[in-house]
Amino acid sequence: MTKALITGITGFAGSHLAEWLLNNKKDVEVYGTYRLRSRMEHIQHILNDIHLVECELKDPHSVNEMMKTIKPDFIFHLAAQSFVPTSWNSPAETILVNQIGQVNLFEAALKYCPDCTIQIACSSEEYGQVYPDEVPIKEDNPLRPLSPYAVSKVGQDYLGYQYNQSYGLKVIRTRTFNHTGPRRGEAFVTSNFAKQIAEIEKGIKPPVLYVGNLQAKRDFTDVRDVVRGYWLAVEKGVPGEVYNIASGVTYTIEDMLNKLLGLSSAKIEIQQDPSRMRPSDVEILLGNYDKFHQQTGWKPEIPFKQTLQDLLEYWRSR
Ligand code: GDD
Repeated sequence: MTKALITGITGFAGSHLAEWLLNNKKDVEVYGTYRLRSRMEHIQHILNDIHLVECELKDPHSVNEMMKTIKPDFIFHLAAQSFVPTSWNSPAETILVNQIGQVNLFEAALKYCPDCTIQIACSSEEYGQVYPDEVPIKEDNPLRPLSPYAVSKVGQDYLGYQYNQSYGLKVIRTRTFNHTGPRRGEAFVTSNFAKQIAEIEKGIKPPVLYVGNLQAKRDFTDVRDVVRGYWLAVEKGVPGEVYNIASGVTYTIEDMLNKLLGLSSAKIEIQQDPSRMRPSDVEILLGNYDKFHQQTGWKPEIPFKQTLQDLLEYWRSR
């Protein structure tokens, strides 16, 4: 048996990855970290099949103890402060959790499992300000981050490169574009809109849907395709390298909203809420995933309409 450790296993991508590993990799034991205040609702159904270890990534002692106990063969580092707006409100905490948390993880890996393969969840937000002639975006595009969150991910990304170059740590960097699906946190746009629609349908909210910037363009992949990609990254990716994980299609947030509204028969009024606007917003994300496809064979399989349908059903059933 090999051991896979998922940081952030109680979260959105983490819980889907745990489920995917349990269903598809019988020779892999699944471990995950949680914090005292972590909510277990996303992993309730698999609690008997996974091993949980309490760990605070910001605390080097805690990370060392966790790593000494597990000594994993693979690490999927998904734990993070992942919501862009929170990073303007708490920039220092975002940098601390994302960058220092990862430094603690790398240092503990060097001590207790120096041969393990580590996938780190970097982000398309790192590309930030992208010019029209730069899409679809390739991995060698300049990084022009537009939020403290994006800067935190640039730091994680370059730390991954540096620990590979300096110590030979087998770090694989995945720059994932927007991803969604059932269990997506309600703060994120697809989930937020789907939840509002479900509440309007149930009559627990007036028929007004609040939105922010509808002109931004995003490249969405289903989370279940993304986590399959994370496994392929550690199985077939080249340590030190960076790979885009994307769908290669972009929609305005307005297009996405219209697709969601098309899945409901409710009559809904759209209203802009100024508090949902950001100091700066990435205008367009559209990824080129050729490099990852050539290295691993990965490509997205679940159509966007299906993803949105499943997300809406998720909120309807709650
Ligand atoms: N959250 C939210 N709520 N976003 C809105 C809303 C709203 O009511 N209305 C419009 N938007 C716009 C945002 O301004 C942004 O342009 C876009 O919808 C997507 O917002 P989010 O879903 O919050 O995601 P994100 O693009 O900022 O970041 C996500 O993708 C990154 C990868 O590109 C997150 O998942 C990050 O963790 C991830 O790294």
